[in-house]
Amino acid sequence: MNHVLDTMDFTLDEINDILSLAEDIMKSPSNYLEICKGKILSTLFYEASTRTRLSFESAMLSLGGTFIGFSSADSSSAIKGESVADTIRTVASYSDICVMRHPKEGSALVAAQYSSIPVINAGDGGHQHPTQTLTDLLTIHSNKHNLNNLTIGLCGDLKFGRTVHSLITCLSRYKNNKFILVSPMELKVPKYIRVETLKKLNINFVETDNLENTIDGMDILYMTRVQRERFFNEEDYVRLKDIYILNKEKLLNAKEDLIIMHPLPRVNEISVEVDDDPRAVYFEQVKYGKYVRMALILKLLKLA
Ligand code: NCD
Repeated sequence: MNHVLDTMDFTLDEINDILSLAEDIMKSPSNYLEICKGKILSTLFYEASTRTRLSFESAMLSLGGTFIGFSSADSSSAIKGESVADTIRTVASYSDICVMRHPKEGSALVAAQYSSIPVINAGDGGHQHPTQTLTDLLTIHSNKHNLNNLTIGLCGDLKFGRTVHSLITCLSRYKNNKFILVSPMELKVPKYIRVETLKKLNINFVETDNLENTIDGMDILYMTRVQRERFFNEEDYVRLKDIYILNKEKLLNAKEDLIIMHPLPRVNEISVEVDDDPRAVYFEQVKYGKYVRMALILKLLKLA
């Protein structure tokens, strides 16, 4: 594992190693305080971020390293027309590891092709977001103590939601997981996920537009935001944006040990009244994002 562009860049053993390391860091953070002393992480964010960028920066600081970077395309030379290929060669001279988020699908792959340092994809357009998946896996493992034999409901924008694509690809590799894919027709998972992952691996899955009738079968409900920035026209977004709003009433039929996840940011798709439900783990999920990224940095820099 030199770069992380996709969850398929990890073997299952590597994923399990990262999760165990993250669990050890959570238990004994003081053992890791200086491991990255002298190391520099660069954060190249051409697209908005709160959790992903800050958790990476916080992760590097908690390992004793430092970071440099930019948080919007406007404050980098991208605005002057510089290519990702040229930017990454510059960044590789100033840092040891790089995290990049970009609105174009495949941009992290291009960066990796020109980079002499590890590149981590922090989201490339509507394609993939592998470190959110590591965060999600750690959340599931901490709550369910297992990554197999689960029924996972994913609800909302399954077409443009990159966290959904990475999570399905990854959980399909564990044993006996089933998926309930809840979305309107227009926002179904892309064909490459349906054909190249779900069908090819013979995964048990259903596609439906009805959350109320399917929620009772779920062990995990992964809610997502309708991805406004990926729509071609505002009217479609306005029509679809509030199509699913999870509230207390809809949870009446859900399992007692369901966990409700969301990569965040939330817009309207989970009513704030759900935040107090013991099944809501989306803020706990945020916390895991830092530890799993600490573990990933250590693995990529070959320090653990
Ligand atoms: C997600 C993303 O950027 O894809 N956010 C995140 O990294 N936690 C989800 C989203 O923006 O809806």
